[in-house]
Amino acid sequence: MWFFNKMCTSKARLDGKTVVITGASSGIGKETARDLYARGARVILACRNMEKTNKAVEDIKSNPPSWMTKDGYKNDVGELTIYFLDLRSFKSVRDCAKNLLTNEAAIHILINNAGVAASPYEKTEDGNETTLQVNHLGHFLLTLLLLPKMQSSSPSCRIVNVSSIVYILADIDFDDINMEKSYASLKSYAQSKLANILFTKELARRLKEANFHGINIYSLHPGMIPTEISRHSNRTLFRGASFCFNTWARLFCKNVVQGAQTTIHCSVAEKAANETGLYYSNCDVTTTYRKANNHQCAEKLWNVSCRLLHLEPEEDFSTFLKTVSRQLL
Ligand SMILES: NC(=O)c1ccc[n+]([C@@H]2O[C@H](COP(=O)([O-])OP(=O)(O)OC[C@H]3O[C@@H](n4cnc5c(N)ncnc54)[C@H](OP(=O)(O)O)[C@@H]3O)[C@@H](O)[C@H]2O)c1
Repeated sequence: MWFFNKMCTSKARLDGKTVVITGASSGIGKETARDLYARGARVILACRNMEKTNKAVEDIKSNPPSWMTKDGYKNDVGELTIYFLDLRSFKSVRDCAKNLLTNEAAIHILINNAGVAASPYEKTEDGNETTLQVNHLGHFLLTLLLLPKMQSSSPSCRIVNVSSIVYILADIDFDDINMEKSYASLKSYAQSKLANILFTKELARRLKEANFHGINIYSLHPGMIPTEISRHSNRTLFRGASFCFNTWARLFCKNVVQGAQTTIHCSVAEKAANETGLYYSNCDVTTTYRKANNHQCAEKLWNVSCRLLHLEPEEDFSTFLKTVSRQLL
């Protein structure tokens, strides 16, 4: 219910900080970009649809978040810039990372927000089921490629993975992670969102083990929000599914500004500065259940993700990152 929705109360400014947000052309990503731009950050919208993203930039520039006055929005804002990123293609992820590493002096916050849900069964050019690649594998690769730059930009760097409460319904079928034997669109979405949480926990563990300090990693459920996320559901679930979801979410859940608050909290809140590897909902740490607490599953997912990216998961994390980065040469 809307009256239980918490807003991020942090007044933190991000002057001099660079933020990368995937899928910022609409929905939660766009509202997050608006808020962080108003806090003074250089915000990079990493998106695939340039026309739509240009419109998003215009909208962000013309309309301040509700907490900021029009005057403040003229003087105290950061910068907005667009990079091309199509998470369906590992080549596009590598190209985007290469451009970011070449052009940006630092990256302080990475928000892995882009997502698809209820998609029809399709394979990417890399041979993976689309939802798995867009929601998990593409972000997994992007994060690994940007980690060295974030390490040199630390302390106080953050990686935020936008997951969903539907992870509770999921299991990861390691024998058929691309769902070639049996596909269900919601099952694949739930699997990818469980993967976001397991990746968060496993990366936090590996960073700690490798003595990487100053980079914290968060996963979260934003709430149920009427956005374009349900756009494919008319085809894969039933006619009118998108309308039903959006009407229900509009009446009983969060609007898109409220839906961006937990992402903003994880990105800026002082309260979260010393937390890593945790899962958030409604701007607070929340307990995870079932498979999301299974460390072996997190480790196995890491190894399987590496295999799908043709990477050898090495014992030493620094050596592993160097190997990943060599793919850019
Ligand atoms: N809305 C909810 O109720 C809800 C609930 C739980 C979790 N979430 C999560 O919140 C995140 C944001 O979703 P949203 O609700 O804001 O939906 P949205 O409005 O549909 O936004 C999704 C964004 O991801 C981008 N995207 C999709 N495929 C991409 C690709 N191949 N490469 C790069 N970008 C791509 C979209 O760009 P295009 O327009 O170009 O496709 C769009 O900018 C997702 O991770 C979703 O799983 C949402």
